[in-house]
Amino acid sequence: MTDNNTKQDKVQVARDDAITRVTIWRPKRLNALDVDVLEGLTEAVNEAGHNGTRVMVISGSGEKAFVAGADIGMMEHFSPREALEFSRKGHELMLALDRAPFISVARVQGYALGGGCELAMACDMIVASEKAVFGQPEVGLGLIPGFGGTQMLVARIGLSVATDLVATGRRISGRDAAALGMVSRVSDHDRLDEEVEDVIKGVLEGDAHAIRESKRLLRQSLYMPFEIGLSSEAASFGNCFDRQPAGEARKTTLRRHVGKKR
Ligand code: CAA
Repeated sequence: MTDNNTKQDKVQVARDDAITRVTIWRPKRLNALDVDVLEGLTEAVNEAGHNGTRVMVISGSGEKAFVAGADIGMMEHFSPREALEFSRKGHELMLALDRAPFISVARVQGYALGGGCELAMACDMIVASEKAVFGQPEVGLGLIPGFGGTQMLVARIGLSVATDLVATGRRISGRDAAALGMVSRVSDHDRLDEEVEDVIKGVLEGDAHAIRESKRLLRQSLYMPFEIGLSSEAASFGNCFDRQPAGEARKTTLRRHVGKKR
């Protein structure tokens, strides 16, 4: 289903210093992902990669849904070629989030289905309300998860549960998703924003370089042989000791943590 809103209407970006908040604004379509939204989100992620953003929070407008999936109305008339291109457009966004030098947080207050579940999983963390609902219902539509779900789910929740979710299309709650390790934090519905702010505070308190490197290495571990990953980690760990003036600050921090003042 198309509408007359522009890309900028559908993807609203607000930056406050190191925090960028992105809201998908299609409340009447439960924030379904059409081409404009996918492009708008990818642009927002790429821009934030160059403007000093340290945390990006991605939310869906309204109370009901984070994102209820790819836009079904739009997909109705796709040719195989258009469907392939649509899937690739989704992948551009997932890859941008994977490579982004900041921590992305999906704030999930309601439905995160299909492409919505995939978008949330592509973020570094998911903070969910107990009212959140996750699922991959694509097979019920004669489709497969097309925005990276088949590639991300196993790493998040293991092959058995991933197959269960995809093959049966069953939905799970925010608490179940947290128990499975898909969601990093789950909160009472009215405490969701507090929880998100707590994540932001935690990230901003840490050293920017160290967090960026940790994210890169954690992500890389998904695709790399153990030995090569460890070698990458050692190189990066070494570099932490070659940074000034953070080096002085680090010495102070290290001393504080071992309780010694020299
Ligand atoms: N695309 C386009 N429009 C959507 C949508 C979607 N994915 N999901 C909901 N909407 C629209 C509905 O058509 C409806 O519009 P109208 O008011 O004009 O009829 C409006 O949003 C509200 O939806 P409902 O009336 O259905 O709300 P509900 O509370 O009864 O149900 C829901 C909510 C369970 C999320 C239900 O809307 C639903 O099942 N949506 C589809 C979920 C889905 O199958 N997502 C997967 C899509 S395929 C995919 O994502 C592929 C991929 O991986 C790339």
